[in-house]
Amino acid sequence: MTTKQTARTVRHFLDISDLDSKSLRGIIDAAHAMKKAGKRVPAGLRPKDIEDRVLVLIFEKPSTRTRVSFDIAMRQLGGGALTLNHTDLQLGRGESVADTARVLSRYADGIMIRANEHATLLELARYATIPVINGLTEKSHPCQVMADIQTFEEHLGSIKGKSVAWVGDGNNVAVSWMHAAVRFGFKLKIAAPKELFPEEEAIAWVRREKGDVEIGTDPVHAVKDVDCVVTDTWVSMGQSDAARRKKMLAPYAVDAKLMGKAAKNAIFMHCLPAYRGHEVTEDVLEGPQSVVFDEAENRLHVQKAILAWCFGA
Ligand code: CP
Ligand code: NVA
Repeated sequence: MTTKQTARTVRHFLDISDLDSKSLRGIIDAAHAMKKAGKRVPAGLRPKDIEDRVLVLIFEKPSTRTRVSFDIAMRQLGGGALTLNHTDLQLGRGESVADTARVLSRYADGIMIRANEHATLLELARYATIPVINGLTEKSHPCQVMADIQTFEEHLGSIKGKSVAWVGDGNNVAVSWMHAAVRFGFKLKIAAPKELFPEEEAIAWVRREKGDVEIGTDPVHAVKDVDCVVTDTWVSMGQSDAARRKKMLAPYAVDAKLMGKAAKNAIFMHCLPAYRGHEVTEDVLEGPQSVVFDEAENRLHVQKAILAWCFGA
Protein backbone atom coordinates (compact mmCIF):
# COMPACT_ATOMS: atom_id res chain seq x y z
CA MET A 1 0.00 0.00 0.00
CA THR A 2 1.34 3.48 -0.83
CA THR A 3 1.57 6.33 1.68
CA LYS A 4 -1.16 8.10 -0.27
CA GLN A 5 -3.55 5.17 0.08
CA THR A 6 -2.64 4.88 3.76
CA ALA A 7 -3.66 8.45 4.46
CA ARG A 8 -7.12 7.72 3.04
CA THR A 9 -7.83 4.43 4.71
CA VAL A 10 -5.95 4.16 8.01
CA ARG A 11 -7.48 5.63 11.16
CA HIS A 12 -4.62 7.06 13.20
CA PHE A 13 -5.28 8.65 16.60
CA LEU A 14 -2.54 11.29 16.75
CA ASP A 15 -4.26 14.34 18.20
CA ILE A 16 -7.74 15.38 19.30
CA SER A 17 -7.48 18.27 16.81
CA ASP A 18 -7.27 15.75 13.91
CA LEU A 19 -10.74 14.29 14.52
CA ASP A 20 -14.09 15.97 14.01
CA SER A 21 -16.44 16.57 16.93
CA LYS A 22 -18.83 13.80 15.87
CA SER A 23 -16.13 11.10 15.82
CA LEU A 24 -14.79 12.27 19.19
CA ARG A 25 -18.29 12.29 20.69
CA GLY A 26 -18.74 8.73 19.36
CA ILE A 27 -15.52 7.62 21.06
CA ILE A 28 -16.55 9.12 24.42
CA ASP A 29 -20.02 7.54 24.17
CA ALA A 30 -18.35 4.22 23.37
CA ALA A 31 -16.03 4.69 26.38
CA HIS A 32 -19.03 5.16 28.68
CA ALA A 33 -20.55 1.97 27.20
CA MET A 34 -17.24 0.07 27.57
CA LYS A 35 -17.05 1.02 31.25
CA LYS A 36 -20.63 -0.04 31.87
CA ALA A 37 -19.94 -3.42 30.24
CA GLY A 38 -16.89 -4.07 32.47
CA LYS A 39 -14.60 -6.68 30.93
CA ARG A 40 -17.14 -7.61 28.26
CA VAL A 41 -17.28 -5.71 24.96
CA PRO A 42 -20.68 -4.16 24.23
CA ALA A 43 -22.48 -5.30 21.07
CA GLY A 44 -21.42 -3.22 18.08
CA LEU A 45 -18.12 -2.16 19.64
CA ARG A 46 -16.15 -5.36 19.13
CA PRO A 47 -13.70 -4.76 16.28
CA LYS A 48 -13.97 -7.28 13.44
CA ASP A 49 -11.47 -10.18 13.73
CA ILE A 50 -10.09 -8.69 16.97
CA GLU A 51 -8.86 -12.13 18.06
CA ASP A 52 -6.35 -11.96 15.20
CA ARG A 53 -5.14 -8.43 15.98
CA VAL A 54 -2.04 -7.43 17.93
CA LEU A 55 -1.11 -3.93 19.08
CA VAL A 56 2.60 -3.08 19.42
CA LEU A 57 3.35 -0.62 22.25
CA ILE A 58 6.62 1.32 21.92
CA PHE A 59 7.96 3.37 24.83
CA GLU A 60 10.76 5.91 24.54
CA LYS A 61 9.84 7.25 28.02
CA PRO A 62 8.63 5.61 31.26
CA SER A 63 4.95 4.85 31.83
CA THR A 64 2.69 3.10 34.31
CA ARG A 65 -0.87 3.96 33.23
CA THR A 66 -0.41 4.07 29.46
CA ARG A 67 1.63 0.87 29.35
CA VAL A 68 -0.69 -1.22 31.50
CA SER A 69 -4.04 0.20 30.35
CA PHE A 70 -3.31 -0.24 26.63
CA ASP A 71 -2.08 -3.80 27.12
CA ILE A 72 -5.14 -4.75 29.19
CA ALA A 73 -7.46 -2.83 26.85
CA MET A 74 -6.31 -5.02 23.93
CA ARG A 75 -6.73 -8.21 25.99
CA GLN A 76 -10.23 -7.20 27.12
CA LEU A 77 -11.20 -6.44 23.52
CA GLY A 78 -10.09 -9.97 22.64
CA GLY A 79 -6.79 -9.22 20.89
CA GLY A 80 -3.13 -9.20 21.92
CA ALA A 81 -0.44 -6.67 22.79
CA LEU A 82 3.34 -6.59 22.66
CA THR A 83 5.18 -4.00 24.78
CA LEU A 84 8.65 -2.84 23.75
CA ASN A 85 11.05 -0.23 25.04
CA HIS A 86 12.65 1.52 22.09
CA THR A 87 16.03 0.21 23.20
CA ASP A 88 14.70 -3.33 22.55
CA LEU A 89 14.26 -2.35 18.90
CA GLN A 90 16.81 -1.54 16.21
CA LEU A 91 15.14 1.90 16.35
CA GLY A 92 17.18 2.43 19.52
CA ARG A 93 20.39 2.00 17.54
CA GLY A 94 19.56 4.04 14.52
CA GLU A 95 17.16 2.14 12.25
CA SER A 96 14.91 4.75 10.68
CA VAL A 97 11.38 5.40 11.89
CA ALA A 98 10.12 4.96 8.31
CA ASP A 99 11.66 1.48 8.01
CA THR A 100 10.42 0.51 11.49
CA ALA A 101 6.89 1.62 10.53
CA ARG A 102 6.88 -0.44 7.35
CA VAL A 103 8.29 -3.55 9.02
CA LEU A 104 5.89 -3.44 11.99
CA SER A 105 3.00 -2.91 9.56
CA ARG A 106 3.80 -6.33 8.05
CA TYR A 107 3.40 -8.09 11.44
CA ALA A 108 1.08 -6.13 13.67
CA ASP A 109 -2.34 -4.46 13.44
CA GLY A 110 -1.68 -1.22 15.32
CA ILE A 111 1.14 0.74 16.95
CA MET A 112 0.92 2.87 20.07
CA ILE A 113 3.99 4.98 20.70
CA ARG A 114 5.15 7.18 23.57
CA ALA A 115 7.77 9.24 21.79
CA ASN A 116 10.39 11.73 22.85
CA GLU A 117 9.63 13.79 19.76
CA HIS A 118 6.28 14.41 18.12
CA ALA A 119 8.09 14.22 14.77
CA THR A 120 8.71 10.50 15.43
CA LEU A 121 4.98 9.91 15.89
CA LEU A 122 4.17 11.75 12.65
CA GLU A 123 6.86 9.90 10.71
CA LEU A 124 5.59 6.57 12.02
CA ALA A 125 2.04 7.45 10.96
CA ARG A 126 3.25 8.62 7.57
CA TYR A 127 4.83 5.27 6.76
CA ALA A 128 2.68 2.79 8.73
CA THR A 129 -0.14 1.04 6.93
CA ILE A 130 -1.79 0.21 10.28
CA PRO A 131 -3.28 2.65 12.84
CA VAL A 132 -0.80 4.64 14.96
CA ILE A 133 -1.86 6.01 18.36
CA ASN A 134 -0.20 8.84 20.29
CA GLY A 135 0.59 7.61 23.81
CA LEU A 136 2.22 10.98 24.71
CA THR A 137 4.82 13.14 23.06
CA GLU A 138 6.43 16.37 24.21
CA LYS A 139 3.62 18.19 22.36
CA SER A 140 0.40 16.41 23.34
CA HIS A 141 -1.29 13.61 25.27
CA PRO A 142 -4.65 13.02 23.59
CA CYS A 143 -5.55 9.64 25.17
CA GLN A 144 -5.19 11.19 28.62
CA VAL A 145 -7.52 14.08 27.84
CA MET A 146 -10.09 11.74 26.27
CA ALA A 147 -10.09 9.85 29.61
CA ASP A 148 -10.46 13.19 31.38
CA ILE A 149 -13.48 14.15 29.26
CA GLN A 150 -15.07 10.79 30.11
CA THR A 151 -14.33 11.41 33.80
CA PHE A 152 -15.73 14.94 33.73
CA GLU A 153 -18.98 13.67 32.20
CA GLU A 154 -19.36 10.89 34.79
CA HIS A 155 -19.26 13.46 37.57
CA LEU A 156 -20.87 16.55 36.05
CA GLY A 157 -22.72 15.52 32.87
CA SER A 158 -22.01 16.68 29.32
CA ILE A 159 -18.91 18.86 29.12
CA LYS A 160 -20.43 21.01 26.37
CA GLY A 161 -20.78 24.59 27.61
CA LYS A 162 -18.99 23.86 30.92
CA SER A 163 -15.74 25.46 32.15
CA VAL A 164 -12.32 24.03 32.98
CA ALA A 165 -9.24 25.77 34.44
CA TRP A 166 -5.73 24.54 33.66
CA VAL A 167 -3.28 25.81 36.30
CA GLY A 168 0.50 25.34 35.92
CA ASP A 169 2.82 24.42 33.09
CA GLY A 170 1.32 24.96 29.61
CA ASN A 171 2.62 21.54 28.60
CA ASN A 172 1.64 18.58 26.40
CA VAL A 173 -1.45 17.75 28.46
CA ALA A 174 -2.56 21.41 28.41
CA VAL A 175 -2.32 21.40 24.60
CA SER A 176 -4.61 18.36 24.35
CA TRP A 177 -7.05 20.17 26.68
CA MET A 178 -6.97 23.10 24.23
CA HIS A 179 -7.79 20.77 21.34
CA ALA A 180 -10.60 19.23 23.41
CA ALA A 181 -12.07 22.64 24.35
CA VAL A 182 -12.58 23.37 20.65
CA ARG A 183 -13.86 19.96 19.61
CA PHE A 184 -16.15 19.35 22.64
CA GLY A 185 -17.28 22.99 22.99
CA PHE A 186 -16.31 24.05 26.51
CA LYS A 187 -14.53 27.04 28.02
CA LEU A 188 -10.88 26.55 28.99
CA LYS A 189 -9.07 29.09 31.19
CA ILE A 190 -5.32 28.56 31.36
CA ALA A 191 -3.11 30.16 34.03
CA ALA A 192 0.64 29.72 33.57
CA PRO A 193 3.79 31.79 33.91
CA LYS A 194 4.29 33.63 30.64
CA GLU A 195 7.42 31.67 29.86
CA LEU A 196 5.47 28.43 30.18
CA PHE A 197 2.43 29.34 28.09
CA PRO A 198 1.34 26.57 25.71
CA GLU A 199 3.24 26.49 22.44
CA GLU A 200 2.33 29.07 19.80
CA GLU A 201 1.18 26.44 17.28
CA ALA A 202 -1.60 25.30 19.64
CA ILE A 203 -2.61 28.88 20.45
CA ALA A 204 -2.81 29.74 16.75
CA TRP A 205 -4.89 26.61 16.07
CA VAL A 206 -7.38 27.53 18.81
CA ARG A 207 -7.66 31.07 17.39
CA ARG A 208 -8.29 29.75 13.88
CA GLU A 209 -10.97 27.40 15.23
CA LYS A 210 -12.47 30.25 17.30
CA GLY A 211 -12.18 28.22 20.51
CA ASP A 212 -13.23 29.61 23.89
CA VAL A 213 -9.73 29.44 25.41
CA GLU A 214 -8.34 32.19 27.66
CA ILE A 215 -4.64 32.24 28.49
CA GLY A 216 -3.29 34.39 31.32
CA THR A 217 -0.99 34.38 34.30
CA ASP A 218 -3.44 34.67 37.22
CA PRO A 219 -4.49 31.33 38.80
CA VAL A 220 -7.23 32.92 40.93
CA HIS A 221 -8.84 34.47 37.87
CA ALA A 222 -8.59 31.18 35.98
CA VAL A 223 -10.30 29.02 38.59
CA LYS A 224 -13.08 31.46 39.53
CA ASP A 225 -16.41 29.57 39.35
CA VAL A 226 -15.12 26.85 36.99
CA ASP A 227 -16.51 23.30 37.03
CA CYS A 228 -13.10 21.62 36.99
CA VAL A 229 -9.54 22.51 37.98
CA VAL A 230 -6.69 20.59 36.32
CA THR A 231 -2.95 20.60 36.88
CA ASP A 232 0.08 18.46 36.05
CA THR A 233 3.65 17.94 37.15
CA TRP A 234 5.94 20.97 37.03
CA VAL A 235 8.70 18.91 35.44
CA SER A 236 7.67 16.73 32.51
CA MET A 237 9.66 13.74 31.31
CA GLY A 238 12.76 14.84 29.42
CA GLN A 239 12.93 18.33 30.99
CA SER A 240 16.12 19.22 32.80
CA ASP A 241 15.58 22.69 34.32
CA ALA A 242 13.70 21.39 37.39
CA ALA A 243 14.87 24.01 39.90
CA ARG A 244 13.97 26.95 37.64
CA ARG A 245 10.57 25.49 36.77
CA LYS A 246 9.71 24.83 40.40
CA LYS A 247 10.52 28.45 41.25
CA MET A 248 8.43 29.82 38.36
CA LEU A 249 5.51 27.50 39.09
CA ALA A 250 5.35 27.85 42.89
CA PRO A 251 2.49 30.44 42.69
CA TYR A 252 0.47 27.93 40.62
CA ALA A 253 0.24 25.16 43.22
CA VAL A 254 -3.35 23.97 43.60
CA ASP A 255 -4.28 24.11 47.29
CA ALA A 256 -7.58 24.16 49.16
CA LYS A 257 -7.71 27.96 49.05
CA LEU A 258 -7.45 28.00 45.25
CA MET A 259 -9.95 25.12 44.88
CA GLY A 260 -12.31 27.17 47.06
CA LYS A 261 -12.55 29.81 44.29
CA ALA A 262 -13.97 27.25 41.82
CA ALA A 263 -17.67 26.32 41.68
CA LYS A 264 -18.97 24.59 44.80
CA ASN A 265 -19.26 21.17 43.16
CA ALA A 266 -16.05 21.55 41.11
CA ILE A 267 -13.83 18.52 40.58
CA PHE A 268 -10.02 18.33 40.65
CA MET A 269 -8.10 16.47 37.96
CA HIS A 270 -4.47 15.41 37.50
CA CYS A 271 -3.26 12.87 34.93
CA LEU A 272 -0.75 11.38 37.44
CA PRO A 273 1.97 10.79 38.44
CA ALA A 274 1.42 13.58 40.99
CA TYR A 275 4.02 15.29 43.14
CA ARG A 276 2.35 16.20 46.41
CA GLY A 277 3.53 19.47 47.92
CA HIS A 278 4.53 20.75 44.48
CA GLU A 279 1.78 21.24 41.87
CA VAL A 280 -0.95 20.05 44.28
CA THR A 281 -1.31 19.78 48.03
CA GLU A 282 -2.00 16.45 49.72
CA ASP A 283 -5.41 17.58 50.99
CA VAL A 284 -6.66 18.50 47.50
CA LEU A 285 -5.28 15.38 45.82
CA GLU A 286 -6.78 13.10 48.49
CA GLY A 287 -9.85 15.25 49.12
CA PRO A 288 -13.51 14.79 48.11
CA GLN A 289 -13.23 16.91 44.95
CA SER A 290 -10.37 14.84 43.53
CA VAL A 291 -11.26 12.38 40.74
CA VAL A 292 -7.69 11.43 39.83
CA PHE A 293 -8.12 7.67 40.19
CA ASP A 294 -11.28 7.75 38.06
CA GLU A 295 -9.17 9.44 35.38
CA ALA A 296 -6.55 6.70 35.69
CA GLU A 297 -9.23 3.98 35.43
CA ASN A 298 -10.86 5.66 32.46
CA ARG A 299 -7.64 5.41 30.45
CA LEU A 300 -8.57 1.72 30.10
CA HIS A 301 -12.15 2.33 28.99
CA VAL A 302 -11.50 5.22 26.63
CA GLN A 303 -8.56 3.44 25.03
CA LYS A 304 -10.77 0.43 24.30
CA ALA A 305 -13.08 2.91 22.55
CA ILE A 306 -10.16 4.52 20.69
CA LEU A 307 -8.90 1.09 19.58
CA ALA A 308 -12.41 0.14 18.43
CA TRP A 309 -12.52 3.37 16.40
CA CYS A 310 -9.06 2.76 14.92
CA PHE A 311 -9.98 -0.81 14.00
CA GLY A 312 -13.23 0.37 12.47
CA ALA A 313 -15.72 -1.20 14.91
N1 CP B 1 -0.94 9.77 32.88
C1 CP B 1 -0.06 8.98 32.23
O1 CP B 1 0.08 9.00 30.99
O2 CP B 1 0.63 8.14 33.05
P1 CP B 1 1.88 7.22 32.67
O3 CP B 1 3.04 8.13 32.40
O4 CP B 1 2.07 6.37 33.88
O5 CP B 1 1.53 6.42 31.45
N1 NVA C 1 3.35 16.30 31.32
C1 NVA C 1 3.76 15.01 31.80
C2 NVA C 1 2.65 14.02 31.68
C3 NVA C 1 2.95 12.65 32.24
C4 NVA C 1 1.86 11.68 32.04
C5 NVA C 1 5.01 14.53 31.06
O1 NVA C 1 5.08 14.74 29.83
O2 NVA C 1 5.90 13.98 31.68
